Amino acid sequence: MKNIKAIIFDAYGTLFDVNSAAEKCKDKIGDKWEGFANHWRTTQLEYTWLRSLMKLHKDFWQVTEDSLDKSMKAYEIDSSMKNELLDLYKILSPFKEVPEVLKSLKEKDFKLAILSNGTPSLLDELVKSNNLENIFDNIFSIEEVGVYKPDSKVYDLPIKKYQIQRNEVAFLSANTWDVSGGGNYGYNSIWVNRNNNTFDNLDYVLKHQIKDLSKLLDIL
Ligand code: LAC
Repeated sequence: MKNIKAIIFDAYGTLFDVNSAAEKCKDKIGDKWEGFANHWRTTQLEYTWLRSLMKLHKDFWQVTEDSLDKSMKAYEIDSSMKNELLDLYKILSPFKEVPEVLKSLKEKDFKLAILSNGTPSLLDELVKSNNLENIFDNIFSIEEVGVYKPDSKVYDLPIKKYQIQRNEVAFLSANTWDVSGGGNYGYNSIWVNRNNNTFDNLDYVLKHQIKDLSKLLDIL
């Protein structure tokens, strides 16, 4: 990877642990908390793709609530938990190495940004609740283009803002389809493969993968 000018991070699942909301309620939810958390996340992502295809956009907060309703029904979770889970989703925890890695990147000469499906206010709150508000040059939200990842209009946002080439971006995501989306677009896509998963068959041939963000500086 040469001439990297901007390091762009996906937010949900990459910097912030989407399962942490349900995990914090595991005493109340019981052993099924992890299956429930995965169902919620999968449904949430399916709704983003389906809404983009149907051209029936709703913002990520609405999609998060709609998918939560379905998953709570599917896992027979008492409706009294809904507000607690939604409140926790606003302040998801980062993965443990994330704050330190971001702070060390901040001292280097890269633009640092988030590019996410989240709404601007959701992303602001998430970053602030984790004391990361001084790290990023920009937080790009898909709300600016009204369509979800992996539409190329989303990946265009930082390119237009920074007036740089696609291959001058290092793009990090833990979501395989987002790595493929960014990679097919022309970014240097890096897969953060925390759980030893299998990559997708979506044309993009994976070039870089790391176990967590602490390995990022080694490959830049
Ligand atoms: C995001 C989702 C894809 O932050 O995790 O955009």
